[in-house]
This record gives sequence, C-alpha cells and structure tokens, in this order.
Amino acid sequence: MLSKKHYAKPRPFIFNCLLFFFAFALGMFSNPYLQSHRQLFQSFETSFKSSPAPEQNSLMHNMSEEELLWRASFNPLIGHLPSNRIPKVAFLFLTRGDLPLAPFWDEFFKGHDGMYSIYVHPDPAYNGSVPKNSVFFGRRIPSQSARWGQINMIEAERRLIANALLDPANERFVLLSESCIPLYNFTTIYTYLVNSNVSYVGSGYDTGPGGIGRYNPAMAPQITVEQWHKGTQWFEMNRTLAVVVVSDEKYLPLFQKFCLANWNPPCISDEHYIPTFLVASSWRSSTNRSVTYTDWSGGMPHPASFGKDHVTLELFEKIRYSANCTYNGVNTRVCFLFARKFLPDSLDPLMKLGAVLKIFEHTNGSIYHRDA
Ligand SMILES: *[C@@H]1O[C@H](CO)[C@@H](O)[C@H](O)[C@H]1NC(C)=O
Ligand SMILES: *[C@@H]1O[C@H](CO)[C@@H](O)[C@H](O)[C@H]1NC(C)=O
Ligand SMILES: *[C@@H]1O[C@H](CO)[C@@H](O)[C@H](O)[C@H]1NC(C)=O
Ligand SMILES: *[C@@H]1O[C@H](CO)[C@@H](O)[C@H](O)[C@H]1NC(C)=O
Ligand SMILES: *[C@@H]1O[C@H](CO)[C@@H](O)[C@H](O)[C@H]1NC(C)=O
Ligand SMILES: *[C@@H]1O[C@H](CO)[C@@H](O)[C@H](O)[C@H]1NC(C)=O
Ligand SMILES: *[C@@H]1O[C@H](CO)[C@@H](O)[C@H](O)[C@H]1NC(C)=O
Ligand SMILES: *[C@@H]1O[C@H](CO)[C@@H](O)[C@H](O)[C@H]1NC(C)=O
Repeated sequence: MLSKKHYAKPRPFIFNCLLFFFAFALGMFSNPYLQSHRQLFQSFETSFKSSPAPEQNSLMHNMSEEELLWRASFNPLIGHLPSNRIPKVAFLFLTRGDLPLAPFWDEFFKGHDGMYSIYVHPDPAYNGSVPKNSVFFGRRIPSQSARWGQINMIEAERRLIANALLDPANERFVLLSESCIPLYNFTTIYTYLVNSNVSYVGSGYDTGPGGIGRYNPAMAPQITVEQWHKGTQWFEMNRTLAVVVVSDEKYLPLFQKFCLANWNPPCISDEHYIPTFLVASSWRSSTNRSVTYTDWSGGMPHPASFGKDHVTLELFEKIRYSANCTYNGVNTRVCFLFARKFLPDSLDPLMKLGAVLKIFEHTNGSIYHRDA
C-alpha cells in the first residue's frame, strides 16, 4: 500500500513578510545580479508564497539553450525539502499541436492548485490556442521541432525538464504526450510519485538488432556495448536525476554524432539515450520500469491506439492491473500511473469513465456531459 502523504501547512504570515523583506533588500543591493537572474529568482519567489499563484504567467522567455540548461543545472545540496514546503509534480507534455484530451486533464487537476505544474512543448509552428479556463493556458514553453527517432527529440525532452527545473518547487518530472491519460485520481498519483525514493525510467538490455544492433563502437570507451540499454522514452524522474540529465555534456554529444535516425539500421536515440546514460554514469538505483503503459501486444512497430470504441471499464481494469512490480520495496499491482495512446475521439467515453472511476476528485460523482 502507498504510504500517506503529510501535507504541508501554510507558513505563518510573519515568515512571508521576512522573506519578502529579504527579497526586497537583495533587490536593492544587487540589482544587476537580480536582473540577470530575474526568472530564476522570480520562480523562487513564487514558490515561496504559501497560497499558490494561479498558473497563468507566461512561461515564454528568450533564454538561449545554453543559458537555459545552465540555469536548470543549479541544485540545492540539501537533498530534502524543508518540512513546510509543498513539493510539486511537473507534468511535461511533449506534443505536436492540439491537446485533444485537455478536458480530461482539466478535471483530473481540479482542486489541486499548488501541487503540480504543467509545461507544454508543441511543434514551434503550432499556432492553436488554449481556453483561458484550462490548466494548459499559458503553459507553453519556447520549443523547437522534434521528430520521432531524431536527436532533437532528446533535446526537446531536456528543454522540457530544464524549464520545469527553473521552479524549485518541482520535485518530480513526468514526460507525457497529447495521447496520454492518468489512470488514477490526482491524490493517488501525486502520493505515489512524491513519496518514491527512486525514478521510473524504462530500461533493459536488448541483444537484438533493435537493441545492441544500433550501438556504434565509435561511442567507446565512454559508452560500451554492455552499457547500451533500451527503454521507452516516457520517463518519470526525481529532481536529482533531472538535474543530472540536463547537465550531461559527456554522453549527449556522442549520441548527437553516433546515433542517427537516418542510418541503416536507424538509431532511435529517444529509446536509448536516458537508459544508456543511467548505466554509463552509474545511476544503478533506477527501477528500470516506466509508469506509463503502452500496449505493444500487437507485435507492430507502433503500439496500439485506443479510440472511442475501446474505452471501457474493462480496458481500465486491464491496464491498471497489467503488471506486478515493487514500490519502495513493497510488492504492488499499481505499476502504471499513466497510459497511452488515446485517440482524440476517445474523449467522450473517457470523460464519463473519469467520473465513474473517480479519477476526477471534484466532479461530485456526477456523470460529466460535455455539451450540457
Ligand atoms: C523576446 O525578445 C523579443 C525581441 O527582442 C521581444 O519582443 C519579446 O517580448 C521577448 N519575449 C520575452 C518573453 O521576453
Ligand atoms: C495557423 O496555422 C495554420 C497552418 O499552418 C494556418 O493555415 C493558419 O492560417 C494559422 N492561423 C493563424 C491564426 O495564424
Ligand atoms: C532519485 O532517483 C535516482 C534514480 O532512481 C535515485 O538513485 C535517487 O536515490 C533518487 N533520489 C532521491 C532523493 O530520491
Ligand atoms: C536496472 O538495470 C541496471 C542495469 O542493467 C541493473 O544494474 C539494475 O540492477 C537494475 N535494477 C533493478 C531494480 O532491476
Ligand atoms: C500479479 O500477481 C498476481 C498475484 O500473485 C497474479 O494473480 C497475477 O496473474 C500477476 N499478474 C501479472 C500480470 O503477472
Ligand atoms: C528505497 O526504499 C526502499 C524501501 O525502504 C529501499 O529498500 C531501497 O533501498 C530505497 N532505495 C533507494 C535508492 O534509496
Ligand atoms: C483517490 O483514489 C484512491 C484509490 O485509488 C481512493 O482511495 C481515494 O478515496 C480517492 N480520492 C478521492 C478524493 O476520490
Ligand atoms: C454536488 O452535488 C449536489 C447534489 O447533486 C449539489 O447540490 C451540489 O451543488 C454539488 N456541489 C458542487 C461543488 O458541484
């Protein structure tokens, strides 16, 4: 069973005043410093407020990639939060364009302000808009084109993690796409992640052509064939690992040079970079499992997709209990917290099931009617 989360109490008013005074004084004395660190500093300020600010400020910035990664690589050396800080889970959406399942996520997040943050990395050409009352409003980050299998996919993942690291309250980082859904209510998912002492990165050693067949010996000795691992790109990681991944300047250049999608056989870097990085840099305490479910049972190069005719209670049951694993050393059947790939037309049945299964904690138990 999952352990109970101890929720933080709001800090006393006087403490906020002191903090404000400190921030103000620092601003007076070190203006140039403050200017150049404005964003980092602002995010510290925001996350120190006891009542969470509505997530509406634009996340757009003009930082270069180099500067962004540098800022994101800061990490406190004290590895645990002060007891009165509420850790946040950062939901990183790597998307092409629209978020057709946004209404499902909106209901999922309702009532949990201050416990999560959302970052959306769409194709840079995407010009769609998000309704003002959606949790996705104002959460777009500066993006660059990312294609499946190409190294720019890894760069996009790192860009998402780096933007989320700028908010020091973010403690867990989960990569999702527009076709992902949560399988449990927010409280369950939040508690699971925030209380976990490891990260969830799918990884395995594959001796076939789709595994070490993609390894390029030119990567040795930094990356050996024994270290060449494979796993789904849909990671979940803690802050420590997130900082390590955005700070990597040793292994990424090797992938940029020697793992290319247009090779024969193609090297699909998003399936290898993080799993291999973990092994090569001796992060052996990962779980080697992803918390995102994908149905590969069809034996096709692409996983199964679920449309409106597939979304049933039985499907949820099947996905939720499709594996056995350990969580913080205890055996459990709660191995997957998210699932993919759900097609846009699955939204209506999903909204109904979300209410029935109480994935929406604040719907009052009523069945949701989209157009009513
Ligand atoms: C980025 O730079 C452009 C051009 O200098 C400016 O118009 C824009 O407001 C800047 N955006 C942000 C978010 O600072
Ligand atoms: C958005 O992009 C589409 C396709 O590129 C284009 O047809 C449309 O005119 C654009 N809309 C706006 C408001 O810029
Ligand atoms: C973060 O995750 C890594 C990888 O699973 C793990 O080794 C490390 O102990 C975790 N750190 C914390 C503070 O939980
Ligand atoms: C994860 O994989 C690594 C590398 O293959 C291995 O050393 C480690 O024992 C595995 N961890 C678990 C929990 O299976
Ligand atoms: C998980 O464990 C339970 C109880 O031991 C077993 O009945 C079930 O078949 C297992 N499920 C899978 C997917 O291995
Ligand atoms: C995480 O907690 C479990 C259970 O307490 C323990 O067995 C395991 O060694 C811990 N892992 C890490 C990386 O701290
Ligand atoms: C959330 O789900 C858990 C089980 O998954 C359940 O015990 C809990 O009551 C649910 N919370 C709410 C507020 O519905
Ligand atoms: C919950 O449902 C009851 C009865 O259907 C209704 O009176 C109440 O206003 C609802 N509360 C909210 C917050 O929607």
